[in-house]
Amino acid sequence: MEADDKGNLDMILAKLTSSCESNLRVYQENAAMYDEGLVRSGFCLPQKLIKLGLHHLSATSKQEMDQLVALDLLSGTGIVGVALKEAGFTGAIDAIDGSSEMNSIAELKNVYRKITQLVIFSDTTLPFDDDTYDVIICSGGLSIGHFPFEGIRELFRILKPGGIAVFNSTHFISSDPQLLALNAVADKLKELRDEGKCKRIDEIKLDDAFSNRFRQHVTDYDILHCYSK
Ligand SMILES: C[S@@+](CC[C@H](N)C(=O)[O-])C[C@H]1O[C@@H](n2cnc3c(N)ncnc32)[C@H](O)[C@@H]1O
Repeated sequence: MEADDKGNLDMILAKLTSSCESNLRVYQENAAMYDEGLVRSGFCLPQKLIKLGLHHLSATSKQEMDQLVALDLLSGTGIVGVALKEAGFTGAIDAIDGSSEMNSIAELKNVYRKITQLVIFSDTTLPFDDDTYDVIICSGGLSIGHFPFEGIRELFRILKPGGIAVFNSTHFISSDPQLLALNAVADKLKELRDEGKCKRIDEIKLDDAFSNRFRQHVTDYDILHCYSK
């Protein structure tokens, strides 16, 4: 790695492909510079997702909050866990991610009750019981070659009835089939809503997930999703 590359998030993002195995190698190899890259790029998705989730959470007293259990899905280096604590969440937080290097950095932040290392494929049953989590946050995980869109069904299986799930997806207006495939998140969510597996609570269009970074594609924007079941 050249000295100038340190903390260059665009360099990490440019290496991502539609292959989960290859992407995990990218995260393994670049884990040490991930946090600095995000800070430099003005990455604000975790904070925005948490604000949305906590706004819709029904716990009112601190005592109620203490009893809540959250899952940081594709937790990476633990940025979401830290931001959740900073936002005043006092319950337990579990984490799951497929990269041992990203998990090692997350571990050092001392915000998680438990970190599970698991690579999730479309047929993976998440290693948690039905109705386990009050809050599930997935920041930057619903992308091609990352958390499989079919896995959204699993996300709602492990969410408690009345719990809150927040996650982002990117919407593309493009002629590139690879990019258009990302819009399948919306189709999957509609399918699950129609089956009665989840309820849409809120949806926010976000143009500035990376405030200091030029977007790679001028015709894309992020959507913050807030769901319950
Ligand atoms: C863009 S990072 C997001 C990390 C964190 N949520 C954040 O907001 O900074 C994506 C993370 O997903 C993990 N990941 C990607 N695909 C995965 C998969 N199929 N199963 C498990 N983890 C995966 C990577 O190891 C990486 O830590």
